[in-house]
Amino acid sequence: MSSQDIPEENLPAAQGQAHGAVDVADEKNPFADPGLPPHEHRIQDIDERAAKRSERTVALLFTLSMLATVGFIVAYLTIPVDKIVYVWTLGHISALNLALGGTLGVALFCIGAGAVHWARTLMSDVEVADERHPIEASPEVKAKVMADFRAGAKESQLGRRSLIRNTMFGALALVPLSGVFLLGGLGPAPGTKLRHTAWKKGELLINQNTNEPMRPSDIAVGSLTFAQPEGLDKHEHGYMNEIAKAALMIVRLHPNDIKDKRELEWSHEGIVAYSKICTHVGCPISLYEQQTHHVLCPCHQSTFDLSDGARVIFGPAGHALPQLRIGVNDEGYLEALGDFEEPVGPAFWERG
Ligand code: FES
Repeated sequence: MSSQDIPEENLPAAQGQAHGAVDVADEKNPFADPGLPPHEHRIQDIDERAAKRSERTVALLFTLSMLATVGFIVAYLTIPVDKIVYVWTLGHISALNLALGGTLGVALFCIGAGAVHWARTLMSDVEVADERHPIEASPEVKAKVMADFRAGAKESQLGRRSLIRNTMFGALALVPLSGVFLLGGLGPAPGTKLRHTAWKKGELLINQNTNEPMRPSDIAVGSLTFAQPEGLDKHEHGYMNEIAKAALMIVRLHPNDIKDKRELEWSHEGIVAYSKICTHVGCPISLYEQQTHHVLCPCHQSTFDLSDGARVIFGPAGHALPQLRIGVNDEGYLEALGDFEEPVGPAFWERG
């Protein structure tokens, strides 16, 4: 049914008058403006029952959004992260991802669909033509905009349609909860993990090539060896995280060549142990220059002087490499005498 089929006296009064038509082009207005077509009332404008139906549809969509958000939260709390389900055409996928994606999608879609349906069927649809005007708004225009805004708010029937208003506010208030719950998926807070590595007092230094504990006699002057703590097992979960912090490089210098007093105290017969992780952006350091005792990071050429506390002598690294204090146990094997005293690697310095 269109407004043309309704008796004139039953139609609502025109809410605005289309204007601006320039029927004939002239010198000032070279393009004729045909103006706006006659306004047609929607069924909801002339039939309160149709308007009520639209209102219920909008409210239903907002309510579905609320239910989907609640479903999202329930799914997040109840579905195990490793549960896999088979979905036709998608194959085997994570049940949790499917549930979270599905419910969040429905929640957002229903809010959007409800708003669109509301605007299309119940809000005022009177066409308005406006003349072009300078970009900067005059005080009168600003006042008019505010007046139009208030009129628009009134025409949207937000005050009158309390069912829509309440369900919309409910849906809009609940949907951000999805984001709050997703934050929980970032995992547990790191706590003090970044400050510690797998090294501790009495931990044997294991040669990464031979997988054997090391004796001082195994290390020749001028050699570079990589080591890891005794307890680390390549096949265990979390190995890569631990080795990324605990990787060690062992170099033997002549004790007389060591300039830094603390470095000498923390070494054993000239054997020094330093973190292998560059303090710039964390590349593993691997190049040792025997004559100068410099180690070089291959990523951005940061260079550290191992005879002087591994201080930075070139490149973008901002800090010396952390040294591990070592000694020898009763059986003659090299062991750690504690953890690193500074955090290893990059960026943490700036965060700490
Ligand atoms: S990571 Fe070592 S210099 Fe950039």
